[in-house]
Amino acid sequence: MHKFIVANYKMNGDCKFYKSVAKEFNTLEVKDTKIVLCPPFVYLNEFKKLNKNISVGCQDVSCCAVGKCTGQISPIMLGEFNVQYAIIGHSERREIGETNSLVERKVKTALDGGLIPIVCVGELNKKSPISDVIEQVESVLNVCEQSTKIIFAYEPVWAIGSGEIPTNAKINKVVKAIKKAILKRKIEAVCLYGGSVNEKNYQKLIQCDIDGFLLGGVSLKTDKLIEIIKGV
Ligand code: PGA
Repeated sequence: MHKFIVANYKMNGDCKFYKSVAKEFNTLEVKDTKIVLCPPFVYLNEFKKLNKNISVGCQDVSCCAVGKCTGQISPIMLGEFNVQYAIIGHSERREIGETNSLVERKVKTALDGGLIPIVCVGELNKKSPISDVIEQVESVLNVCEQSTKIIFAYEPVWAIGSGEIPTNAKINKVVKAIKKAILKRKIEAVCLYGGSVNEKNYQKLIQCDIDGFLLGGVSLKTDKLIEIIKGV
């Protein structure tokens, strides 16, 4: 299977930045790697005319399909901007109150609307049990069917933006538990790692039993992002 590189730009950048990102990626030639760029909603338009080998994702999605949901964006609207993927349940959203049950509803709406969810799961601190992560995974699996296409990103909350990363052994242990939970339901899922991945540590991390990375901070430096994409 090809590797995935998902770039989560978070709430950064401006029109000028995303225009330059689109330009860089339109001349990039990569094989065997699926690249998903996830800008803030208001800049999705800059990525409307990207090369076919680059996909576009968003960083959140509404839990409703249409109607009385002030301030939210539905998968149907996102489809008009060629969005194929949706990051859901990022820890920065869980921190402001997004619960497992809301994440579950968003995943269901995204799937019904034809988007592939990239669900972020991860423990709060280094001593938290793996069961905390599996609880987040199981909750989402409740709304998946055998044919569902879904991506999980294991992102330890303590590793996001901190410069700290788990050992490969720890990542493998958690990913193994996630894959076991998924396989029990006979669902085929991709499993990524995210949290302080950069151009210096990605070669070590890619040795883990993962299908690629969810990248945050390093995505803002397009040259480094491309270095990782080519290296992977
Ligand atoms: P980071 O963020 O790479 O800056 O740690 C990853 C993420 O939040 O998805």
